[in-house]
Amino acid sequence: MRSTRGAQRSLVVLTGAGVSADSGVPTFRDAGGLWEGHRVEEVATPEAWARDPRTVWRFYQLRRAALQEVEPNAAHLALARLERECAARGEGFTLISQNVDDLHERAGSTVLSMHGSLSHLACELCGNVILDTQSLDPDRFVPCGACGQEALRPDVVWFGELPRCLDEIDAALHGATHFLSIGTSGLVYPAAGLLSAARSLGAETWVNSLDPPENLHPRDRFHPGRAADVVPALVERWLAD
Ligand code: OAD
Repeated sequence: MRSTRGAQRSLVVLTGAGVSADSGVPTFRDAGGLWEGHRVEEVATPEAWARDPRTVWRFYQLRRAALQEVEPNAAHLALARLERECAARGEGFTLISQNVDDLHERAGSTVLSMHGSLSHLACELCGNVILDTQSLDPDRFVPCGACGQEALRPDVVWFGELPRCLDEIDAALHGATHFLSIGTSGLVYPAAGLLSAARSLGAETWVNSLDPPENLHPRDRFHPGRAADVVPALVERWLAD
């Protein structure tokens, strides 16, 4: 990254499914948009939940269970290290993720999870949100511990719902000198707009992905390759600069 020695640097990182691909978590569009035989858009909507809650519940319970089989990879670990190093140096660092897996948290990162979290369940009736990584039966709904109703849903953002942390993300973008996008196809908004927003606000923009994402601009520096290889190298460069 361009040397800004002497100036206060502040990095914003956005991750997508590609950062977890090297941990064995399937990405969306690399599998043709199909997931366990379902089109993502067909199960990840409030309409699908209203129409066929058993199928949607089963789909998410299987994804929740699959999380127990995977571990953070070198990219997650490098970003957690970078957060610690930036804090020690007084540099800004914000990690934003579109992913609903908990691999950034397990690596030790603080993360703004725009699309929610598979590890949490939320009650549609009383609003209670719980951390639950144990109730994984695909065929049994879980009663809410607060109101007792069988009204818990996956605490994730579905298509048509408002992404989270937008104020914190906006504030981070306005202070960013650098922006790094990792492993996202740049197709799903508003997350896909963060790269161009950072660029417009004057940040130097870096992009890692296997293929050039839809939202790549000639001014972005593209670093093709697997996140588990590329991200640790980029972190080393940031720390050496
Ligand atoms: P996608 O599956 O759309 O895109 C994954 C991107 O990661 C692609 O550009 C791949 O080239 C890249 N990729 C794959 N393997 C990689 C690797 N090992 N290292 C680096 N890059 C790799 O996933 P997202 O862009 O994250 O939304 O999807 C965005 C949103 O669409 C998701 O958050 C979800 C989905 O539908 C909701 O659920 C609301």
